[in-house]
Amino acid sequence: MNPAKGSTMAKLEPADWRGSAGDRWASNVDHFETMLTEIGAALLAHAGFSPGETVVEIGCGGGRLTREIAGRVAPDGTVTGVDISPTLVALATDRAAADDIGNISFTAIDAQTGMPGQAPFDRLVSRFGVMFFADPAAAMANLRAMLKPGGRLDFAVWAPIAGNPWAATMMQAAREPLGLVPPEPRAPGPFAFSEEDYLRGLLEGAGFSSVSITPWTGSVKIGGPGATAEEVAELSMMTGSIAEPLKDASAELRAMVHRSLTELLRPYVGPSGAVLPASVHLVTASA
Ligand SMILES: C[S@@+](CC[C@H](N)C(=O)[O-])C[C@H]1O[C@@H](n2cnc3c(N)ncnc32)[C@H](O)[C@@H]1O
Repeated sequence: MNPAKGSTMAKLEPADWRGSAGDRWASNVDHFETMLTEIGAALLAHAGFSPGETVVEIGCGGGRLTREIAGRVAPDGTVTGVDISPTLVALATDRAAADDIGNISFTAIDAQTGMPGQAPFDRLVSRFGVMFFADPAAAMANLRAMLKPGGRLDFAVWAPIAGNPWAATMMQAAREPLGLVPPEPRAPGPFAFSEEDYLRGLLEGAGFSSVSITPWTGSVKIGGPGATAEEVAELSMMTGSIAEPLKDASAELRAMVHRSLTELLRPYVGPSGAVLPASVHLVTASA
């Protein structure tokens, strides 16, 4: 199929988390947090927090994981959620206040360069919040500086896209109609740290030691019980990485992407909505 009439080659730009991407995550926060529940549970089990620890969570988004960590380190430990999006920090703060959680705080800073006031911490954790740095080497050095000597880093990042059809189907459906050029390998984005040797080198280059990368496979759920393939495709187009390039697309192009994505997703849709395989690296290192 040739790109539709009127389409131009479009680069998939890095998400603007300080602006539109952060706002989109906030508007769909329950959808995203439900989608990532299984991976959050795996990360927390892998990290194994103990009461009394001081923790910083990088790219905390709406703060659901942050609230779970607050419970695990209570009563004497604390958790600080860091995010570059002021919208998400405000949302996370409101949600924690509504739950009356005392040992939690949130701060709006760029984790590549900023330092939360309470540093250094015992632990640093992140679920998909560390793959968006423009200068990953500088960012990793800054993350290490947030930790006490010997402090522990744990994060989850996506393994290569081939094991993640929730993303591969979107790229496949949008590539031709939008003339979308896939991002360069290692470019800021969901798959920036999917190459294990590159990731290990970055962490060791920043002074981390005892780096381990553990594969985790499971699933992500999209749409919830009863959702049809058509609804899951629509939801993915509204919320996923192709939402931004689709914003200015014509109705004709949107319909093409929707048709194609619906058929690609159909094999994954059952009574629980779409359940798609997910492949993740659970990464641990010592500062
Ligand atoms: C994919 S979302 C994950 C959100 C949350 N960790 C979760 O799993 O629900 C990525 C998050 O990282 C944040 N982020 C991206 N770049 C950042 C940076 N340089 N410093 C701090 N946060 C950043 C985004 O604003 C967003 O909240």
